[in-house]
Amino acid sequence: NMTKIQIALDGPAGAGKSTIAKQLAAHLDYVYIDTGAMYRAVTLAALEQGIDLEDGQQLGELMTSLDIRLTPGENGQRVFIGEREVTESIRSSEVTNNVSFVAKHAQVRSALVEMQRRLAESGGIVMDGRDIGTVVLPDAELKVFMTATVEERAGRRHRENVARGMESDLEALQAEIALRDKRDSEREVSPLKQAEDAIYLDTTDLTIDQVVLRLTELAEGVLK
Ligand code: CDP
Ligand code: CDP
Repeated sequence: NMTKIQIALDGPAGAGKSTIAKQLAAHLDYVYIDTGAMYRAVTLAALEQGIDLEDGQQLGELMTSLDIRLTPGENGQRVFIGEREVTESIRSSEVTNNVSFVAKHAQVRSALVEMQRRLAESGGIVMDGRDIGTVVLPDAELKVFMTATVEERAGRRHRENVARGMESDLEALQAEIALRDKRDSEREVSPLKQAEDAIYLDTTDLTIDQVVLRLTELAEGVLK
């Protein structure tokens, strides 16, 4: 079957979206698009330019000049602002702790949603984020809402940090994740929420391989 579908993957921080999306896309020979990285790139630029993150109008002006580029790389998606690579710098804790303030503004969201829809137009994509199934791609052939308990999600991030030899504080991570989830779920514009036609998947007790297998089966079910 040559049909190339759109797969929308939403859920809170640390649910495993990007890990699973990357592997699923590789399996299907699809393109993986990490929309969180786009909100992170806007946040990095806003912080660098000293923009007040509560000022939606100024952020809207930033959007008109900001040249965000996504390209596929060896280890997933690479992110550029113009010619400058920001793949690593958008993962800083300063960006992480500020991104949900930037992401609540309609002026920011409308510009990014437009870009995301363009990227998904031809199908053959796995897109992850918070509002993909509800707002960005309401007609996606497969929608999954992936979650896990906040303890498990913080634990995953903690183990990831420790494995990388980074300093990590489990309790602080859990508080940061809970706070970001709360902001993402309670904002007025496109909050984090399960689409009515999304499949709910609790990954608390599942390994990465188990989740990838489950999603591959779901995708193959749609492609049949
Ligand atoms: O990977 P992690 O779970 O830390 O987050 P992310 O996917 O990189 O997203 C970072 C932030 O961007 C989220 O906490 C949201 O505030 C925002 N975001 C959003 O509002 N809508 C999306 N479609 C994707 C991300
Ligand atoms: O993209 P999102 O924030 O939803 O999560 P992620 O960055 O893909 O996953 C966070 C961490 O959890 C990574 O270190 C994954 O290896 C790990 N993980 C896991 O241990 N078990 C799963 N079922 C999924 C992810």
